[in-house]
Amino acid sequence: MGQTVSFIIQKGGCGKTTTTVNTASYLAEQGYKVLAVDMDPQGNLSQHFGYDTDSLEYTLLHLFLKKKEFDEVVLKRSDNLHILPNNIEMVSAEFTLYKSFSREYILRDLLAPYNNVYDFILIDCPPNLGILSLNALVASKEFILVVSPEFFPMRAIKPLYETYLMVKAKLNRTLKFKGVVMTMCDFRTKHSQEVRKILKRNFPHKLYQTYIRNSVSLKEASSHGKSIFEYHPSSNGSFDYQNFVEEFLRDHEPAQKKKAFYEEHFQQLPVDEKTEILDFAKQNLSNYNRSRLDEEEDEPILREALILERNKLLEKLFPYREHSMSAKGK
Ligand SMILES: Nc1ncnc2c1ncn2[C@@H]1O[C@H](COP(=O)(O)OP(=O)(O)OP(=O)(O)O)[C@@H](O)[C@H]1O
Ligand SMILES: [Mg+2]
Repeated sequence: MGQTVSFIIQKGGCGKTTTTVNTASYLAEQGYKVLAVDMDPQGNLSQHFGYDTDSLEYTLLHLFLKKKEFDEVVLKRSDNLHILPNNIEMVSAEFTLYKSFSREYILRDLLAPYNNVYDFILIDCPPNLGILSLNALVASKEFILVVSPEFFPMRAIKPLYETYLMVKAKLNRTLKFKGVVMTMCDFRTKHSQEVRKILKRNFPHKLYQTYIRNSVSLKEASSHGKSIFEYHPSSNGSFDYQNFVEEFLRDHEPAQKKKAFYEEHFQQLPVDEKTEILDFAKQNLSNYNRSRLDEEEDEPILREALILERNKLLEKLFPYREHSMSAKGK
């Protein structure tokens, strides 16, 4: 079963869209099948993926109004990365939605048939806690707060947390508050340091160790309609989002399944091939894993890091989706 995750904070300009786009892109590159849902009528996610939102024939609005089918609306940016786009026309629908029956369940119901089609469904929320954000939370298994140091975070988080408790009590019992990711960090400034401290104090087990630094490339990538991995793969932005996704993946079911699949596959290979693959993995440890190893010369971490790199290589040799699909078909 796929995972549906909302990236949310009602404050504008914190990096929700940038985080959703780059997380979706990296997951898709790693062989997961991903649907990115643009819940914001500003259409920033769709634009960031390179689509001209003014000229889109059909959008999420048509799905909400049941005027079009999923397949007529979804944009296939690559085999693994699909997008449900949005644009300003959705604003008019928000008023209609407030009057409609089961108005909080529309997104959940329209995504339900696709939960098994995609490994991950990532939702980019608008900067408010209106009906569209509620729809996102009701459709999600979990949500991640995206916080930039530009404001006093706890003030914005409080109403969001209350909304979460209400949704969990009344609309979606299984919703989980998964984590907090900090973006646009510049730890040369006191303010960034201060905000990180506050977040650590309030969310000791939820704050992602990885933070996203301030990076001009991330801004440029969005205006070029590209992910950071397409636009500038060796930039800080690319490094940080890769680290974030690796951390995000560690306890996710699709990642566990993929890991088990490669473990089995690896064990069946001849010994010399195994050795060759492990040597290659050692030489190609990702920056993230290298930095963790620099911090702690620790055997279990090394083993875990090697498995991760080994699996990335196996992914290239035996694409997970093709193989797991053909195994299912047998
Ligand atoms: N780490 C970063 N460093 C520098 N610029 C960034 C970074 N992350 C995002 N930006 C830029 O900051 C602006 C706001 O980011 P983004 O659109 O992702 O925020 P948002 O939370 O989705 O905003 P909104 O609430 O309006 O939807 C964009 O121009 C984006 O390119
Ligand atoms: Mg946005």
